[in-house]
Amino acid sequence: MSQPSGEAATVPSRDPESRGAWRVPVTVYPSATEASAEVAREIADLIRLRASRGEHVVLGLATGSSPLGVYRELIRWHQQAGLSFRCVVTFNLDEYWPMPADSPLSYHQFMRRNLFEHLDLDPSNIHLPDGAVAREEIEVSCQAYERAIREAGGIDYQILGIGRSGHIGFNEPGSDRTTRTRLVELALLSREDLKRDLGGGEEVPRLAITMGVGTILEARQVVLLAFGRGKAAILERAVLGRIGPALPASFLRDHPGGRFVVDQAAASLLR
Ligand code: GLP
Repeated sequence: MSQPSGEAATVPSRDPESRGAWRVPVTVYPSATEASAEVAREIADLIRLRASRGEHVVLGLATGSSPLGVYRELIRWHQQAGLSFRCVVTFNLDEYWPMPADSPLSYHQFMRRNLFEHLDLDPSNIHLPDGAVAREEIEVSCQAYERAIREAGGIDYQILGIGRSGHIGFNEPGSDRTTRTRLVELALLSREDLKRDLGGGEEVPRLAITMGVGTILEARQVVLLAFGRGKAAILERAVLGRIGPALPASFLRDHPGGRFVVDQAAASLLR
């Protein structure tokens, strides 16, 4: 794959299930920093456009290390360029269950530390799945989450990471394109990664509430971020392998607004 240094390169990918059609879903940047700055700039442009029309914008947000560069840039847009987030509504992909919102391990706290507390978001516009809900109320709570997304007008711009299992949100292998927000079990590989992220000392959550693949695919734009050599193998399968529930991230290739934004290390196995 040739690529001009210092510029993003786009890799055409052949979709084996679309009768020979060629898709162009992958943009390769020299580094995660440049990729993240570009994604943040797109989001900032969208916010400015909607704000200028007096409209709101709905962002779908992810946890993990992959979106952190985008979040840092968005904070910079707010603090240094005066970009206001008052017109922004957010929905996060997932939360562990059971997990109180004030636990330092919760995604509620992850998002507060890494993004929300640095912006001027209206707290009533911030949404995450409720990890503290009683088991018998999970289904109703998940339906309410789906309804809240619909009532906000749907997600305009969804950010995703990809797990080593190929998951998006916590839609592990086996999750098909019709799945909605629900309680799921984490794959072994995801729990291993989690153990590493938590420093090994904590008990690793086994269950989570996640938006479904179907929920994610209803977003108007979906951008999957993958950075580093550790993501190369799973990215290669997601971009060039068979589209299907064995690798939920592959469904992005069936989405007209789906894109993979990656660095050179993650793209190293794409030929
Ligand atoms: C967790 C999140 C996913 C995320 C994944 C990858 O499992 N629930 O949404 O994509 O981690 O994490 P990282 O970006 O740190 O590789």
